[in-house]
Amino acid sequence: MEKLMVEKSPPLKGKVRISGAKNSALPILAASLLGTEDIILEDVPELKDVRVMCEVLTSLGAKVEKLDKNTIKINSADVNNYETKYELMSKMRASFLVMGPLLARLGKTKNSLPGGCAIGTRPIDLHLKGFRALGAEIDVDHGNISAYSDKLIGEKVYLDFPSVGATENIMMAAVLAEGETTIDNSAMEPEIVDLANFLNKLGANVKGAGTSTIRIKGVEKLGGGTHRIIPDRIEAGTFMVAAAITGGDIIVENIITSHIKPVIAKLKESGCIVSINNDIVRVQGTKNPKPIDIKTLPYPGFPTDMQSQFMAYMSVIQGTSVCIETVFENRFMHVDELKRMGAEIKIDGRSAIIEGVERLSSATVKATDLRAGAALVLAGLISKGTTEIKDIYHIDRGYENIEEKFKNLGAKLYRA
Ligand code: EPZ
Repeated sequence: MEKLMVEKSPPLKGKVRISGAKNSALPILAASLLGTEDIILEDVPELKDVRVMCEVLTSLGAKVEKLDKNTIKINSADVNNYETKYELMSKMRASFLVMGPLLARLGKTKNSLPGGCAIGTRPIDLHLKGFRALGAEIDVDHGNISAYSDKLIGEKVYLDFPSVGATENIMMAAVLAEGETTIDNSAMEPEIVDLANFLNKLGANVKGAGTSTIRIKGVEKLGGGTHRIIPDRIEAGTFMVAAAITGGDIIVENIITSHIKPVIAKLKESGCIVSINNDIVRVQGTKNPKPIDIKTLPYPGFPTDMQSQFMAYMSVIQGTSVCIETVFENRFMHVDELKRMGAEIKIDGRSAIIEGVERLSSATVKATDLRAGAALVLAGLISKGTTEIKDIYHIDRGYENIEEKFKNLGAKLYRA
């Protein structure tokens, strides 16, 4: 299995251009099943998860063509298969996002139940609550889940938790339903807004995305169109923390700064200089950062996908920092790995108390999820010696050309 070898590096300096957002590309690719004419998606990141989602679309009868490195053309006019194969579903749980579009388009869908993962059980009860509210029958047997309905009817759905995936799946099921659907307590992430904008380009009628109430008026059918995926706010945040943890000076290009306000605020609180100029952010690290506290929350709160990267940074900030994870029930798997590198972290339920140490030391560690993997890269950059990171397939799922981007900033790392 491939490993990433990360050596102690000088403060990172230079420019990095952010790729399209994985967590926007995946639901938008799934939503392309709803279109009946050509769809062109631009700024699609070249990632393993995107390749898997394209395989899923093809297996369902869509024509998927890569026009260039980051541009994909999809035509779903002939989509006729409602069943997602187990081996594809098991590769990536986000394949579950095809359920809503297939239910809307074909009136039925069958998937294997998405597994959990390192960060949590990842239930789908809220997705199913939405499908049932729209009139779908749901069957679960032998590890498969089927949904079918002759005609989906718009309805009010209340989400007990503002789940990103459930909001997306229900929105995609509702765009062809009869009448109006309201999703209350919906997720407000920028990726939800991007999905709604894409669906409206195809001819849907989605209003309120980005607020906690989304209204969808069903339409007869959706056509095609061209859409550029928004920049990846988590990739951007990861490189911003790289500047902070190495005491470097990085200019991050192609980001929507309103999407990363919590990250900017926390880096400033730690003493970094953060300058904003339209879609460019410059982060200058400080020699003596100050301890910070973070609490992950649904958007617009501090993003859970930035928690592990910040914990790496906190590990070398003198003093006591606190990290509270409220979104996932098991998203501290990176703590043991950081402790192998000398970090002093105590976990108490959903809280982690971090006592900053002078320096970390290199070790052999493993990525437990893609953001934890990124955190270990950041820790490796400031650890004496060479840190060997295993299971880096996690990292490849969510970061396009990660080595190249880090090397261009002066990082010493290579794949072995
Ligand atoms: C999306 O996952 C992202 N993935 C995750 O990014 C991200 O961490 C998460 O949203 C939160 O922002 C993609 O967009 C592909 P949720 P999702 O449904 O949709 C509970 C990354 O690193 N819940 O908002 O699965 C669930 O257990 C990945 O890029 C239910 O209880 O997240 C969790 O505790 C990791 N019932 C919480 O909601 C449900 O039916 C948040 O989950 C659904 C979710």
